[in-house]
Amino acid sequence: MRTVTARAARIVPRHASRVDTTGRVRPNSAMSSTHRDLIARLGIRYPILQAPMAGGPTTPALVAAVSQAGGLGNLGGAYLTPEALREAIRAVRDLTDRPFGVNLFAHLPSEPADPAHTADLDRALAARRKSLGLPMPAAERGAAQADQVHDQIQVIADERVPVFSYTFGILDASDAAATGTAVLGTATSVAEARALAEAGVDAVIAQGAEAGGHRGSFLTPFAEAQVGTIALVPQVVDAVDVPVIAAGGIGDGRGVAAALALGAQAAALGTAFLRCPESGAPQTSKRALGQACDTSTIVTDRFTGRPARGLRNTLLADLEAAGVPPAPFPAQGALIADLRAEALRRDEPELMVIWSGQAAALSRPEPAGEVVRRLAAEADLDA
Ligand SMILES: Cc1cc2nc3c(=O)[nH]c(=O)nc-3n(C[C@H](O)[C@H](O)[C@H](O)COP(=O)(O)O)c2cc1C
Repeated sequence: MRTVTARAARIVPRHASRVDTTGRVRPNSAMSSTHRDLIARLGIRYPILQAPMAGGPTTPALVAAVSQAGGLGNLGGAYLTPEALREAIRAVRDLTDRPFGVNLFAHLPSEPADPAHTADLDRALAARRKSLGLPMPAAERGAAQADQVHDQIQVIADERVPVFSYTFGILDASDAAATGTAVLGTATSVAEARALAEAGVDAVIAQGAEAGGHRGSFLTPFAEAQVGTIALVPQVVDAVDVPVIAAGGIGDGRGVAAALALGAQAAALGTAFLRCPESGAPQTSKRALGQACDTSTIVTDRFTGRPARGLRNTLLADLEAAGVPPAPFPAQGALIADLRAEALRRDEPELMVIWSGQAAALSRPEPAGEVVRRLAAEADLDA
């Protein structure tokens, strides 16, 4: 069993300070009054968020367990219909009366896959499909998807969800905010953080390049928006007046302490919760994440059409070898959906899409409440 030593816990900067752009030193203790402000605004005990993860991992059971333990659980709701989203929100409420969050995508481009590219990709993947006993898929797939975000936001407003976060752009969340919902936006650069603060968010999530899943970038080109968490967070803290939440590569209490030392008022962890029993990630993914190391991941747009960090595997090698440009997000995902489903059925992680941050090796298959309590103890948050 790995434990974070007392020496690591002592790095928590109780009375650390930082120098602002005018050269003035500003106090920034791990639990300064501004930290308490964010914690009070979100109504949580610990400055720890279980990051939203759409596509299955953030079940109501996971979200509720994190909130129940004093963190903030977040439901990744982007792929849910408004009806399914409402049901999931109510399922969380059945399990906890603590605050929780819901997350959506600000922007879902609705461009279809190019049929010529689809045909080229299918030709390139024909041998792989044959080896799996799969028929050639229908030529016409990867259609445009309707953007349901406004109906989803209406559900969040109707259900009076305590915290609403979004990624991939800037959303008008005034309907939800009017009911008292705290609104968080995701930035991968200082420019994006400034734009979100100007749009009136209550806090900015600074997502460093180590993060698992899709990059949240919307103003800064993807290739430039690869700033690591340790560089991004203090620059965003200095640039905006609203609280900052650090995300990306935070794997245990040392990472939480480091995020607070950098001036973040809370830390958001995604990959660290993927192997929890309450997580809806498939067992095949959980096993692969348990075997991952620091160099196992890569940012690629080949899986979905939008850059995201996941485990490097045979499916990615196939897609790269095909030499066909990916269809727009999210249509690209539909082009390989049959392969992924068959791989899951065969318990074959090499042909699946498994999002992961760079700190997967720090994750443990513990119940989510225990993860929260361990992070709090390791980062000395109760002292
Ligand atoms: C499986 C998975 C799915 C994700 N889905 C979303 C999402 O729906 N919305 C979002 O804002 N971020 C999403 N993210 C990003 C996380 O919210 C967060 O930024 C990231 O997990 C932090 O980095 P870490 O994984 O190293 O902890 C996802 C991440 C993962 C690993």
